[in-house]
Amino acid sequence: GIKKKEVHVLCLGLDNSGKTTIINKLKPSNAQTQDIVPTIGFSIEKFKTSSLSFTVFDMSGQGRYRNLWEHYYKEGQAIIFVIDSSDKLRMVVAKEELDTLLNHPDIKHRRMPILFFANKMDLRDALSSVKVSQLLCLENIKDKPWHICASDAVKGEGLQEGVDWLQGTV
Ligand code: GTP
Ligand code: MG
Repeated sequence: GIKKKEVHVLCLGLDNSGKTTIINKLKPSNAQTQDIVPTIGFSIEKFKTSSLSFTVFDMSGQGRYRNLWEHYYKEGQAIIFVIDSSDKLRMVVAKEELDTLLNHPDIKHRRMPILFFANKMDLRDALSSVKVSQLLCLENIKDKPWHICASDAVKGEGLQEGVDWLQGTV
């Protein structure tokens, strides 16, 4: 068939937010793994949509590995930023990491679409995507297209909407 256009995506966000679970769910069911463990360093994953072939840098969100993120910024053409909507205590840490990312010289003046997943929407005390977007001050992002979706990565809910947006925006 026709070779799909390749897009490099950085998957970022705090540890335990659900990055690997999301990327795993975007793969065909026969390629999905059952047991997801915390990512060490990073892992390169691939998935396809109707018109694109995505290569994802699934980065570890653990504090001791976050300094690896910036080494891949130049490579990335788009960002998937995952937030645990139920982790209210660390929302401020997620915002700090996002602000550091947005101010990085390899990111700052580029038109890089950012897809936010307000993940774990299934948990009873999860914040809405509107609330997450307010706490992260997403309306201040003026120089990049962005979109936020509520998701439940375990059930796979909300993921398609996000990926459809990304496919139409990169
Ligand atoms: P690091 O690799 O350490 O940065 O974490 P990560 O962001 O890749 O998180 P991971 O995908 O490993 O998921 C962490 C935990 O959250 C796992 O136990 C997942 O099953 C769980 N999880 C992920 N998404 C959801 C969700 O939408 N709802 C619920 N309830 N649990 C989720
Ligand atoms: Mg992971």
